[in-house]
Amino acid sequence: MSTPTTHNVAVIGGDGIGPEVLSEALKVLSAAGVTLETTYFELGAAHYLRTGEVLADATLEELRGFDAILLGAVGPPVGSTEVPPGLLERGLLLRMRFELDLYVNLRPFVGLAGAPAPDCDFVVIRENTEGTYAGEGGFLRRNTPFEVATQGSVNTRMGVERCVRFAFELALSRERHHLTLVHKTNVLTFSGDLWQRVVDEVAREYPGVTRDYNHVDAACIYMVERPDRYDVIVTDNLFGDILTDLAGAVAGGIGFAASANLNPARTGPSLFEPVHGAAHDIAGTGTANPVAAVRSAALMLEHLGEVDAAERVSKAVTAYLSEQPSQSSGSHVSSTVAVGDAIAERL
Ligand code: IPM
Ligand code: MN
Repeated sequence: MSTPTTHNVAVIGGDGIGPEVLSEALKVLSAAGVTLETTYFELGAAHYLRTGEVLADATLEELRGFDAILLGAVGPPVGSTEVPPGLLERGLLLRMRFELDLYVNLRPFVGLAGAPAPDCDFVVIRENTEGTYAGEGGFLRRNTPFEVATQGSVNTRMGVERCVRFAFELALSRERHHLTLVHKTNVLTFSGDLWQRVVDEVAREYPGVTRDYNHVDAACIYMVERPDRYDVIVTDNLFGDILTDLAGAVAGGIGFAASANLNPARTGPSLFEPVHGAAHDIAGTGTANPVAAVRSAALMLEHLGEVDAAERVSKAVTAYLSEQPSQSSGSHVSSTVAVGDAIAERL
């Protein structure tokens, strides 16, 4: 092996179970022999309540200088009134996705034994900077009987195309070379038309990739009943958000689902985080499932060019999981630390 490269990683533990699951992920990475220079950032609900700050401009600038960002989870407890809804989501998570141009949200799903879809093996490529998440819209005559609220969906040619191209490249690199566009072209005739045209055009450059189209509502049925039809799914921001929670559930539980928020152009760091949230209800009990965090860290290694270590971590996770009795949702385990140790021991 050549001289190990040190990677500068910003670590945002965040709220609830975030810090607990991340410390297991970092333990596994060090067992894999990867050298990381970590810098911890206090961000999230607790930080906001203490300082009144969601994400300072200077902090965002500092984050730009890292090779990658590893994030646990951010968010206040469900029902908390101290943090206004959307403040952290938009001000921290979405701000990082937008400002760091993390335009691909890659979420892989491989079915676990005993899961509703034990044989599924697909990746969702969710557009991550546009759609209804872009923040277009507003109120008219707020708090009057004639109130109007609009929330537009922003779809740019460039934004759709770069995401679709990424999905085709990914499909080409996988065994089945199959890509499914998921949208709602029968109703969303403007944005759906743009997505469909872009997919049709880019497809001409990828004759080796077979194609399919599903309406998002039908995709929810197929994902449960026939998930084997999927290899790579490409979809817009909101459909991707909803579909990946469903995918997490059918593949064995949200406690196992990892994600990569990628800036494929590498004009800045990419961000890696489990699909799950802060789960305040089990925070501090030492029972959060760290597997999603470990897998997200493996995606980070791959992005950092540590392909061999990434593969070893993935294999260690798979080996560990194959020895476990099937778990219902995977949201908790008997011991977070013991799961981290068990995976680390296999490296
Ligand atoms: C996710 C989350 C976020 C999203 C929230 C926390 C803003 O649900 O990463 O899937 O909607 O994208
Ligand atoms: Mn979500």
